[in-house]
Amino acid sequence: MEMLESYRQRVNSYLKDYLNSMSPDNSYQSELKNIMKYSVLAGGKRFRPILTYTVANLFGVDIQKVDSCACAIELIHIYSLIHDDLPAMDDDDIRHNQPSSHKVYGEAQAILAGDGLQALAFEVISSDNLIDSVTKVKLLNLLSCSAFNMAEGQSIDLSIVSQEVDIELLNNLHKKKTGSLLNCSVMFGAILNPNISKKDLSILDSFSNHIGLAYQVQDDVLDVTTSEEVLGKKQNSDSVKNKPSYPSILGLDESVKKYESLYQEALDEISFLSIDEKPLRDLTVKLMQRSF
Ligand code: IPE
Ligand code: IPE
Ligand code: MG
Ligand code: MG
Ligand code: MG
Repeated sequence: MEMLESYRQRVNSYLKDYLNSMSPDNSYQSELKNIMKYSVLAGGKRFRPILTYTVANLFGVDIQKVDSCACAIELIHIYSLIHDDLPAMDDDDIRHNQPSSHKVYGEAQAILAGDGLQALAFEVISSDNLIDSVTKVKLLNLLSCSAFNMAEGQSIDLSIVSQEVDIELLNNLHKKKTGSLLNCSVMFGAILNPNISKKDLSILDSFSNHIGLAYQVQDDVLDVTTSEEVLGKKQNSDSVKNKPSYPSILGLDESVKKYESLYQEALDEISFLSIDEKPLRDLTVKLMQRSF
């Protein structure tokens, strides 16, 4: 089986087992766990956990040690999507080809499902006995900062609706709202090997920042060019809400050139890693060529 597909299946089954195993308290059982599962198990490309597995594997980390981090980054991502779709935010009714959480369970429960997922992301890493305590603190610290930066990016994103902004502001907010979790996915894989060199760490940091920005520019492009059927979410979500986006400021062609050149920079950088970077190169090309 192709490596990417095996990582995707691995994180899917870990997420499922994890959400099913969470200790049931014996008293009143709420629906919250099921509401969380509705969004987590609906699918998604799982690119963030796949990045974590790929980088960790490049640096010789045992795969069992990677599962909790792979799961945690996806839990934060799904929480961010549930909240992103709420009426108070992007007000989107469809996600992963099914009604958004709040359309099924109501806003209050959707907010709480996001809260629950965020909390469990920290739980799953902190309770992983395969990871030593020093590494664990580093991982948890990175996850906290990244989740905060994502929220700050979302805050900026919503504060500039209907405004004219320049590309520099857009870059900064894209780096925060989307780049920070992609950076975290990559750096998780690196930090899990305590012996990784400073040079490799800094190359991966820069690599992930480039693909992080590229990923959101591409999301803005796909929003314009791709049908709801393929996206699994509403098309033209940005323009309908008057959201400043790469295509709205630079036009479609320039936006495509921009993300391709960012991915290219990322590809150039990883050739300087101390290990054979081929799997990460192949994955980056897959990201660049994604169609949804
Ligand atoms: C969508 O991310 C939101 C962004 C931060 C760009 P993905 O395209 O990676 O979401 P999935 O694959 O549907 O989970
Ligand atoms: C989302 O950006 C970024 C998040 C942190 C969730 P978008 O609002 O463009 O994501 P989609 O297009 O709804 O997936
Ligand atoms: Mg949004
Ligand atoms: Mg949105
Ligand atoms: Mg979008």
